[in-house]
Amino acid sequence: MPRIMSVENLSVRFASRSGQIEVVKDLNFDLWTGQVLGLVGESGSGKTQAFLAIMGLLARNGRAEGRALLGDVDLLQLKPRALNRMRGREIAMVFQDTAAALNPTLRIGIQMAEVLALHHAVPLPQAELAAIDMLDMVGISDPERRARCYPHELSGGMRQRVLIGMALMCRPKVLIADEATASLDATVQAQILTLFKTVCDRLGTALVLITHDLSLAASIADRMMVMYAGQAVEIATTDALFHDPRHPYTRGLLASTPAATVTRGKLYTIPGPPPRLLEGERGCRFNPRCPHRAAHCVELAPILRPVALDHQVACHFDIGGASQ
Ligand SMILES: Nc1ncnc2c1ncn2[C@@H]1O[C@H](COP(=O)(O)OP(=O)(O)OP(=O)(O)O)[C@@H](O)[C@H]1O
Ligand SMILES: [Mg+2]
Repeated sequence: MPRIMSVENLSVRFASRSGQIEVVKDLNFDLWTGQVLGLVGESGSGKTQAFLAIMGLLARNGRAEGRALLGDVDLLQLKPRALNRMRGREIAMVFQDTAAALNPTLRIGIQMAEVLALHHAVPLPQAELAAIDMLDMVGISDPERRARCYPHELSGGMRQRVLIGMALMCRPKVLIADEATASLDATVQAQILTLFKTVCDRLGTALVLITHDLSLAASIADRMMVMYAGQAVEIATTDALFHDPRHPYTRGLLASTPAATVTRGKLYTIPGPPPRLLEGERGCRFNPRCPHRAAHCVELAPILRPVALDHQVACHFDIGGASQ
């Protein structure tokens, strides 16, 4: 399975009144053709900012460092125009907010066609036909008729499908879905997840599924990355993460999300104060909340290290499943 993207030592800092805050710190991970990476972590852990940085869409007080290699192109080094050409064509991102993402004054078929016309200089009539095909692919029935609708004429679930279809018009190598199904009811959510999976299989797209909902991510992700306070604390195959979680934070997450009590859109809370992100702080960022804390956890930041094939953990202790 070829590797599509390698993110190396990605850090994101914002200038703030109390100094530099480092909301993403030394993130390292790879994306593979046709695979789904589930990204979980509590609110504020840096999931969105990490990918906005990769897309070149950080707020003005933000700076990204490191490398985000798509093939051999480092997205973080591209000039705005070059990056603009890559966005949508090679890498695309879908958000939850459907209302703001579609132009209310344009029929959806045209909106989708324009993406293709813009990036690939496809004549508009031909691009409109491609849009109809895409509507069909994202599971919208009667696509010719729907293509002539305005956004407000569609249900929320359909609009979300349109957005996903729009993101896929140029067959991007990487698709980032940031809480893209969070506003939808459970049935539509399940349909869209199935759609994601089909699309990854059919087009070879690598999908990053960012979500608060562990069980949702687990339902389609091949691998999972758990973030805490801007860092990846555990990266593993989905199976290993659920059956052999190694990081105390991951264990906390799993323990506090029995499937039946998951409240949609809300993640568990782990006792203890929220992490501070000011630069220059020492030690493991999870230590104030960690049940296994020892003296050196306060002094020394653990690095992500392999504990098994396809399984990396950032913790000083080997808290393997067998010992617990
Ligand atoms: N422009 C900004 N200036 C300063 N801090 C910011 C800015 N934008 C985001 N942040 C901070 O970056 C941190 C990470 O935010 P991010 O949106 O990536 O979290 P998240 O993991 O996506 O959370 P959620 O699950 O709620 O979407 C937060 O502490 C947030 O307050
Ligand atoms: Mg977010």
